[in-house]
Amino acid sequence: MVDSAQLATQHWNETPLFLTDDERYSTYPWLYEAAEFRDHAGEKVLEVGCGSGCDLLQFAKHGAVATGVDITDRHLELARQRVGSLAAVVKADMRHLPFPDASFDYVYSHGVLHHCSEAEQAASEMLRVLRPGGRLNIQVYALYSASALVYRLRYGRDWKLHIENSTQPVYLKLYTASQVRRLFPGCRVSFRKYQCYGLRFVAPLLGWFLVATGIKPVQAPQ
Ligand SMILES: C[S@@+](CC[C@H](N)C(=O)[O-])C[C@H]1O[C@@H](n2cnc3c(N)ncnc32)[C@H](O)[C@@H]1O
Repeated sequence: MVDSAQLATQHWNETPLFLTDDERYSTYPWLYEAAEFRDHAGEKVLEVGCGSGCDLLQFAKHGAVATGVDITDRHLELARQRVGSLAAVVKADMRHLPFPDASFDYVYSHGVLHHCSEAEQAASEMLRVLRPGGRLNIQVYALYSASALVYRLRYGRDWKLHIENSTQPVYLKLYTASQVRRLFPGCRVSFRKYQCYGLRFVAPLLGWFLVATGIKPVQAPQ
């Protein structure tokens, strides 16, 4: 079986994803608030799967000590160009993060965990590098969403090939809130959904992005 990280690197090295700030935050108008870019000044922030660095730059611009990791060389290159000296960009696989325990105050990841076939291992790494009492913000595609239904109806069996920025195959699993909660044992996690064809009032129920936020407990679960 092909490794999900290998699929991801092939996909995004061949068809990198690069949006300007304006393109990204007008496509996802809710993201600026949902990512909490303005709320982590002075904190150590880790972005897992930083892609070409658009969100990483926002944390840095708002005063965070920001580090982004990604596994795709082309994305790492674009992220380094974008953030310059404002943030660190490190090549790493999210299943083996190259940081000591409890190194970060805030761990953020948008659109990445659902591309990992060993999500338990990746989530446990995110928790390990987060300090007790630190905050998580993990954003994945929602299984119960209008977009998932529309993709299925529109593209049939191969619908998963039409979600990312090219039809190069990539591993993809859609999540329910309880599946995400199980990945972060002991954390108090709450959920919101966003992005539903501009229908702001429907998005909390049928939105495409499932945003999980939570606090790592100060005492490890028994
Ligand atoms: C859809 S892109 C999202 C990038 C960025 N977060 C954004 O929203 O623009 C998914 C990213 O996850 C990265 N990725 C996938 N599997 C990974 C892994 N095992 N370790 C680290 N990064 C990974 C890919 O290289 C890619 O940059």
